[in-house]
Amino acid sequence: MSDGRNEIATGQSRMDDRIAPPPSFVEQANVTDPTVYETFDAEWPDCWRRAADLLTWTQSPESVLDDGGDSDGVRWFPGGRLNASENCLDRHVDAGRGDQTAIQWEGKLGETRTKTYRELHRDVNAFAAGLRDLEVEADDVVTLFMPVIPELVVAMLACARIGAPHSVVFAGFSADALATRMERAESDVVVTCDGYYRRGNAVDLLSKVDNACLSVSYETTQVVVDRLGDERYLGDHRRYCDLLAAHDGETVDPVERAADDLLFYIYTSGTTGEPTQVRHTTGGYLSHVAWTSHAVLDLEPRDTHWCTADIGWITGHSYVVYGPLALGATTVLYEGTPDQPEKDRFWKIIERNAVDVFYTAPTAIRAFMKWGADHLADYDLSSLRLLGTVGEPIDETAWKWYYKHIGNEECPIVDTWWQTETGGMMLSTLPAVDAMRPGVVGRPLPGVELAVVNGLGEELPDGETGQLVVTKPWPGQPKSLCEGTEWAQSIHLTESIDRWRYATGDSAMRHDDGYVSLLGRLDDVLNVSGKRLGTTEIESAIVAIDGIAEAAVVGGDDELRGSTVHAYVSPEANVAAADDLRTRVREGVEDAIGPVAVPTEITFTSALPKTRSGKILRRYLEAIANGEDPGDTSALRNPEVVGELESLVDD
Ligand code: WT7
Repeated sequence: MSDGRNEIATGQSRMDDRIAPPPSFVEQANVTDPTVYETFDAEWPDCWRRAADLLTWTQSPESVLDDGGDSDGVRWFPGGRLNASENCLDRHVDAGRGDQTAIQWEGKLGETRTKTYRELHRDVNAFAAGLRDLEVEADDVVTLFMPVIPELVVAMLACARIGAPHSVVFAGFSADALATRMERAESDVVVTCDGYYRRGNAVDLLSKVDNACLSVSYETTQVVVDRLGDERYLGDHRRYCDLLAAHDGETVDPVERAADDLLFYIYTSGTTGEPTQVRHTTGGYLSHVAWTSHAVLDLEPRDTHWCTADIGWITGHSYVVYGPLALGATTVLYEGTPDQPEKDRFWKIIERNAVDVFYTAPTAIRAFMKWGADHLADYDLSSLRLLGTVGEPIDETAWKWYYKHIGNEECPIVDTWWQTETGGMMLSTLPAVDAMRPGVVGRPLPGVELAVVNGLGEELPDGETGQLVVTKPWPGQPKSLCEGTEWAQSIHLTESIDRWRYATGDSAMRHDDGYVSLLGRLDDVLNVSGKRLGTTEIESAIVAIDGIAEAAVVGGDDELRGSTVHAYVSPEANVAAADDLRTRVREGVEDAIGPVAVPTEITFTSALPKTRSGKILRRYLEAIANGEDPGDTSALRNPEVVGELESLVDD
């Protein structure tokens, strides 16, 4: 019998836990040579030329890596010039694959739409011309605020075509969150849609955009896609369909971009109260996602790939849009959730589209498990060749369920670790080369170097737990983050040891075979259903509410979602901790961030546990939230609070 937990504790690898890649998969795979790791090592950084070679460059890079200068000075593929939309469209049409499906869309109400590469190319050209009508030029940031609909991909690639970085904001975010993200990027054009459907009802998106634009300190232009099919929702804004019609059939020459010119902005949650801005480059990022789509997702032009992530998150950017389209594959876009209208929706989509590669999150797999394999019984999933997971640790049980029930023990599973900041995958197995270890991610991909370090930045031996750090540059490295952010700090903090150490904020342990187990976040970041939330951001939203003195947010353990948001809230004196205040806390968080961040638990308390110097000790709150013994409270100035809270949470 295998015992995953024991294995993690001792760092011993046990051969009986390994599952070899199925021979039928290996026979046809893109990367099959086990020496690929050594070759990449020996040739580093030139090994990454293989990634760049998957793209079409209008000017070849002079070299692979220019490692000079400060942390902002690393340049991948210097001298190289290219355009991302040309790589995702023109070259496939030119190669005679214009009639192949680029996008297969599955809408929330069960509608479907198909766009071939030729059709997508046509729309992208027309919309690129439309954006120019609005005076969008190279390097202007265009905000995109939409659910997963084909127009979002058109808009992304149209921006890329004219060299305007896009900033896709998850459509579930609030007006405030949208406004902050627009202002931080000085973006004055937003492409959005009238609304979307939630449980069959139309939800208004446009008034959120109107509110956001009112609070931005400069003039903005809105372009609105008609998603609901009802004119009444469109207001007086510019219409996407008018812009498209006005320029239908026009061609816009792809603007040549330097390899390190920006392709997009994306925001993520960090440890500060503000969202962290991450800016990804054209050449490095696109090479990284194309290479990992080829080597890890094993994609070929003939494949239909389905990554279930929302395009508003990095996973959607990299493995719904840019990776699959750069390689000329068919990408499935799904607007809904796994149980809409029924719990068999995913399997219906896989069967109908003969999906080859399926990439989803452990939180979804845990839900499938709970719903039971009966939901699969009527479906033919034999088109599947490879399965992937991303976003949070997958436990051995969920892994094995996925392997057996979805993959029929014939599809390898790639458990891929990466982050918004890395742009693309960093740790995984190569599906035709490496044995799989359920619950253990894999090795750093060829060309990627990682280490596990202690608090002083010293590398730890195998079997010891510490922080995962990236020790060499990688192509998907973002251009830089803003001043004073996590990224800049983590680089500077460790500069004395090695200039190229990026602290990931994740706790990890390397086994003696080089495989890495990921054990969760070390910082104040929560992972709720694979979505990243900053506790500080949520706390700032709560304390901004009238009548609230202090708040602390921690993660509660949750079998399905990984974590939940548990808020401890201390009202001002004379303010009653009543239901009305609870509602205001929920609404305050929803307005500031969005429904994803709304606490599932709110505990009112007269005080928060603090040290003598006034620091809130979250570990006590976490223990209480999870019904664990908070232990020794002698470090606290107000130990009596812990007892008070324990009795409150028990209720
Ligand atoms: C955080 C990054 C990049 C994809 C989606 C999330 C966690 C990601 C795994 C994995 C264990 C994982 C980490 C990481 N994470 N993949 N395979 N196993 N944990 O991107 O929102 O930037 O979140 O997700 O904690 O730091 P993100």
